[in-house]
Amino acid sequence: MDRMLIQSGYQLNGHVKTSGAKNAALPILFSTLLAEGEHTFTNVPLLKDIESTADLLASLGCTTKRDGNTFSVHVEKLTSFEASYELVRKMRASILCLGPILAKYGEAVVSLPGGCAIGTRPIDLHLDAMKSLGATIELKEGYVLAKAKKLKGATVLFEKTTVGGTENLMMAATLAEGTTIIENAAKEPEIVNLGNYLNKMGAKVSGHGTGVIRIEGVEKLHAATHEIMADRIEAGTLLIAGAITGGDVTVENCRPEDLEALILKMKDCGFKIDTTATTMRVHPLAKWDATDISTAPHPLFPTDLQAQFMALMTVANGTSIISETVFENRFMHVTELMRLGADITPKTQVAVVRGRPGGLTAAPVMATDLRASASLVLAGLVAKGETLVNRIYHLDRGYENLEGKLGQLGAKVTRV
Ligand code: EPZ
Repeated sequence: MDRMLIQSGYQLNGHVKTSGAKNAALPILFSTLLAEGEHTFTNVPLLKDIESTADLLASLGCTTKRDGNTFSVHVEKLTSFEASYELVRKMRASILCLGPILAKYGEAVVSLPGGCAIGTRPIDLHLDAMKSLGATIELKEGYVLAKAKKLKGATVLFEKTTVGGTENLMMAATLAEGTTIIENAAKEPEIVNLGNYLNKMGAKVSGHGTGVIRIEGVEKLHAATHEIMADRIEAGTLLIAGAITGGDVTVENCRPEDLEALILKMKDCGFKIDTTATTMRVHPLAKWDATDISTAPHPLFPTDLQAQFMALMTVANGTSIISETVFENRFMHVTELMRLGADITPKTQVAVVRGRPGGLTAAPVMATDLRASASLVLAGLVAKGETLVNRIYHLDRGYENLEGKLGQLGAKVTRV
C-alpha cells in the first residue's frame, strides 16, 4: 500500500502532538558507537530511517531493542568496522557512522552514500574534516577507507555550512587527543541535541548551537540515556496543514523557538500564530497573501520546509519567489504541484509561484522524496476532488503516522 488518497474540502481543527525528531535521532543513534554499554532513548519516532539505522548498527555488532517509542542500543566490541553499500544506499545519513567508528577503533570502511533525488549530496566536507584530525582517507571501489592511529584535535573551518559534516566532526573529536574547534559550524537545534547527548556520555562539548563549537578530547565515553527532541519539521508541516485548510490547529510538544523563520513568514502572509514554550497555534484565515522565502542554514528558513511552504503559496493571493539555496535540485515537487493546477515557473534554484486561492484541482501525483511527499499531501487537502499520491513510502522515512495525525484533525486521508 504505497499510495495515499486525500479528499479535499475538510477544514483541519484541533490539537496534534509531534513525534521525536528524525534528524536528531539519527546522529545520536550513531554516536552510541563511541561508547560501549547500554544506551537508552525515549521519544524515538517509528520511522523507516530509524529501522535502517538499527540494521546498520546490528551489522556492526550492536544489539538494538525497540519498545514503542523507547529504543536502546547495546554496544560491545564491534564485530565489523564496515558500513556496507547495501545499507548505506538506503539512507545517506549512514555516513554519520564514519566519525564515531574512526575515533573509537582507528579504522572505518564506509560506502560512499551516492546521490539522492534532491542533489548530489557529496561528503567531501566530512572527509576533509577527518583528514584535519589526522586521518588518512582512501576512496576504493565506492568505499571510503579511513584510518587513524589516534585522531588529533585541530581547528576546522567549514567552507560551507554542513549539518552532517558538523555532526561527524563533533563525534570524532570527542575521543581525539587535544582540543578541536569547529568554525562555521551548523547551528541547527539537532546539533545542540547531539552535543547534549555527547556530554551525557562524558564528552566535553561547548558552543553547540553557535557557529563555533569547541570539543576537548577525552580518553573514554560511557553509555547514557536521553530523550529525543521534538521534530520541528513535522511541527511546521502540521502547522501548514492547519493553515492551508483555513483551520484552527494547535501543534503540541514542539519548540516554536526552533521555527522562528517559518512563524515570521506565516505572519507575513496574514496568519495569526500564537505560541507558548511548547505549542504553536494557527488561527483560521480564509485568504492569505503570498510572501517570498529563501532557504538557508538555521536560524533562517529551513530547506526541509520549502516544499511544504510552496504548497501553501500555490493557493495564496499573489506571487511568491521561492529560492532554494541549500540543495541544487530540491524542486522535484514543482512539476507534481503543477499537475494539480499550480501556476509555478521553476528556474535554477528559484521558483516563481503565482498563487490562486482555490486554484488546485485533484489529480494523481508522484512523491519523489521525503519533504516533496509532504508537500503533495498538503496540496491534496485543498485540491478539489480526490488526490492520489503515489510512492508514499518516501513519507514513511520521516513522518510517523502522518495520515493518523491529519485524520485526528478532521482530514480524510487513507492509504490504498
Ligand atoms: C541534513 O542533511 C538533514 N538530514 C537534511 O534533512 C537537511 O535538509 C540538511 O541537513 C540541511 O538542513 C539529516 O539530518 C539526517 P548538509 P545533510 O550537509 O547533513 C552540501 C530531510 O528531509 N555538502 O547540511 O546531508 C550538500 O550537498 C533531510 O530530513 C557538501 O557540498 O545536509 C548541501 O548542498 C533532507 N559537501 C549542503 O552542503 C559535504 O561534505 C547542505 O548539506 C556535505 C554537504
